[in-house]
Amino acid sequence: MTTHREIPVTYEDQGNYLHYGKLVLVKPGNTTLPISYKSFANIIYNFKYRRDDICLFTFPKSGTVWTAGIIWAMTHIGELERAMTESLNSRVFYVDNDFVHSFKEHGHREKLKNLCPDAKEEDGLVLQLAALEKGRRLIWSHLPFDLQNPDVLDECKVVSVMRHPKDNLFSRYVFNNKFGSADLQFIVETFLTGRAVHGSYWHHVNETWKRRDHPNLHIMFYEDMKADIMSELKKLNVFLGTNLTEDQLKRVAEHTTFNNMKEHPTMAPSFVSFKGSFFHTGQVGSSKGQFPPELDAQVDAWIKENAVKVDPAFRYVS
Ligand code: A3P
Repeated sequence: MTTHREIPVTYEDQGNYLHYGKLVLVKPGNTTLPISYKSFANIIYNFKYRRDDICLFTFPKSGTVWTAGIIWAMTHIGELERAMTESLNSRVFYVDNDFVHSFKEHGHREKLKNLCPDAKEEDGLVLQLAALEKGRRLIWSHLPFDLQNPDVLDECKVVSVMRHPKDNLFSRYVFNNKFGSADLQFIVETFLTGRAVHGSYWHHVNETWKRRDHPNLHIMFYEDMKADIMSELKKLNVFLGTNLTEDQLKRVAEHTTFNNMKEHPTMAPSFVSFKGSFFHTGQVGSSKGQFPPELDAQVDAWIKENAVKVDPAFRYVS
């Protein structure tokens, strides 16, 4: 039995940010998170994973929902129609949901009350539901590895998706705009300085990349998924040990096309005060021509400076 460990972090208040409310800077990794994260930091750090769990750890706007749809389909190949009626948030355990309050309730409160009448909400709805789940779990989080249970890779399989930082940033801007008006200059500035919610793109990528040789970690790239989804599904099939046939993988690919996911609201998360579709263009190079020239140059310089620090051979260096 593992003993409880205190997460080795300190906090610095960071003021308000858009619809997320009060934020804190979590040190030493300098990850910016809603202040309510503090109540869940130790629970997440000590979360008990099981051999058959699949974790999906990504930086937001990298293709997480797409990959969650894929992994869920691969592990539920005989019951794909459930995805058309049951919300993503009730099929997948999005643990950050307990401290990022922009998500709609998906019956978590009632479900927890039924399963465990004495459970306290302040211990986390999704975290407790995940702990109570008897079947195979798909656990999704945008927290970087340094804020996850340090043993997670030795306990279960973890999938991560990365996306070009400029497209990632533009996707973030469009997404934030759907909660109300988000100023482009402000979004770019807070993204580049790591003061947007979920912190620094580079810190997240770096924490994942330095673990890339671990046999229980599988890193995918959004651009590869867009270029040849079948080839990515085949690799995932081997990594997850799902043993799906070529025909079954084709069904997974069809089930999770951009258009199919966009047409079925239960295949995307739903949010409070959010206007429009979760999906935007779903394209590689979506940021092209979207920033004024001086902002564009600033983003390019930021990528050039930081990508080499991850690894001189890192995907997005040039
Ligand atoms: P855009 O904003 O560029 O359209 P995340 O799930 O990590 O928040 O990432 C969201 C991005 O993934 C959005 O990008 C969204 O449209 C894109 N996406 C979601 N499902 C997709 C799919 N099936 N195919 C391609 N892109 C998808």
